[in-house]
Amino acid sequence: MITTQEKPALDQKTIDTVKATVPVLAEHGESITKRFYQLLFQNHPELKNIFNQTNQRKGRQPKALANTVYAAAQYIDNLEAIVPVVKQIAHKHRSLNIKPEQYPIVGENLLQAIKDTLGDQATDEIITAWGKAYGVIADVFIEVEQEMYHEVSRQTGGWTGFRNFTVAKKVKESDVITSFYLKPEDGGLLPEFKPGHYITVKAEIPGEPYNHLRQYSMSDAPGKDYFRISVKREDSIEDHPEGVVSNYLHKQVEEGDILPISAPGGDFFLDTENEKPLVLLSGGVGQTPMLSMLNTVVEKQPNRPVYFIHAAQNSAVHGLKKEVQNLTNAHTQVNAYTCYSTPQAGDQYDYEGFVTLDWLMEILPSNDCDFYFCGPEGFMRSLKQSLAEWNVPDEQIHYEFFGPNIEL
Ligand SMILES: Cc1cc2nc3c(=O)[nH]c(=O)nc-3n(C[C@H](O)[C@H](O)[C@H](O)COP(=O)(O)OP(=O)(O)OC[C@H]3O[C@@H](n4cnc5c(N)ncnc54)[C@H](O)[C@@H]3O)c2cc1C
Ligand code: HEM
Repeated sequence: MITTQEKPALDQKTIDTVKATVPVLAEHGESITKRFYQLLFQNHPELKNIFNQTNQRKGRQPKALANTVYAAAQYIDNLEAIVPVVKQIAHKHRSLNIKPEQYPIVGENLLQAIKDTLGDQATDEIITAWGKAYGVIADVFIEVEQEMYHEVSRQTGGWTGFRNFTVAKKVKESDVITSFYLKPEDGGLLPEFKPGHYITVKAEIPGEPYNHLRQYSMSDAPGKDYFRISVKREDSIEDHPEGVVSNYLHKQVEEGDILPISAPGGDFFLDTENEKPLVLLSGGVGQTPMLSMLNTVVEKQPNRPVYFIHAAQNSAVHGLKKEVQNLTNAHTQVNAYTCYSTPQAGDQYDYEGFVTLDWLMEILPSNDCDFYFCGPEGFMRSLKQSLAEWNVPDEQIHYEFFGPNIEL
């Protein structure tokens, strides 16, 4: 069995070998990754409890892990440079309760996959060099994640791993969105989270051989005696099966039931020190972190102008409309706009179609705002492009993906 080395001091020869072979591995990236996950789940079927099996089928996450290893390997002699990217991934790992002892398992199977795919090209020298490189990269992740585990466990009301929560209230918000109000079963305190943070729900579905882990953003402000998440039911479309966890939550989980969840976290959150006008843009259920931000800003920054712009197909699927209306009526700082792509008869909305730069320029005071957005991939791509066209500086643009991170 190939093993990864612990904390090796990388010699120049190893560094040179790794750097020289990054392009070869990247070129065979897809085959290596496919083989890697085959081996991983064959040798460690218990990991199906952790990895999202739908992402596996859709091929998004598989690429993410291996590509990050290759990208990190390019900086093998300057790993400080990858810390910001590691932090972003580490938030997800921490939320999923990934443990240091799982790193060698990933390493062993990745090396075996490289060997199986490259055959004779993968000499002992190359495999040994990559084993060492993986060890150092894994150490960076483990260290960053250990710090995050300490941080959440030190927080008042914080915890590591999964804690049981009772569904105190289940509220239908639209044809497809339902909110769940969650209170700790142990009756203990809740930690302060930042608006924008998410939790991971562990769905233990009766009859399913494995658990399913999914992230959900907080949809209400921190400081309450509950956490609220709002979940869109993913119906089956054409030959795609219905979403596993969202349907379980909608159809099987009732008030009084227990859901194990991990402590809130993430790298997407509202900066409440900043006083610039705030623009919260969302498409569909991407409004959940924006609502947490909106509910927070009216409490914490009553003088900060907020523009809450929500895009949906129409009123039937537009959840939490009343809550936004109430906030708009109660706080003059809040300006809310609705954009419907396929309005129904009688719908009230401000703009028809998709959000465009022209419309944003019409309703916003200037481009000197702090922009936060979340929604479907196409919505996010188009917004990112529009804001770049409007010369909004990168540091004023913040966004969240409801799936594995991708380049916009
Ligand atoms: C940081 C973060 C925050 C999030 N916050 C929220 C939130 O606040 N609210 C919310 O509703 N969601 C949120 N999500 C998304 C959420 O985690 C889940 O991805 C979502 O609920 C779908 O999970 P599921 O198990 O129901 O669907 P899955 O079973 O994971 O399926 C996902 C989609 O893929 C389709 N699909 C299934 N199999 C295939 C296949 N073979 N080929 C192609 N398509 C397929 C399904 O039809 C479905 O539409 C968030 C995600 C992240 C990463
Ligand atoms: C150095 C090693 C590793 C690297 C470079 C890495 C990289 C990544 C990346 C890039 C993502 C996507 C993050 C996102 O959502 O945007 C991810 C997610 C994830 N990682 Fe890792 N990872 C490593 C080790 C591990 C280990 C040891 C485990 C546990 C066995 C693990 C389990 C997961 C899981 C479960 C996800 C969530 C995605 C899904 O389920 O589809 N990773 N990782």
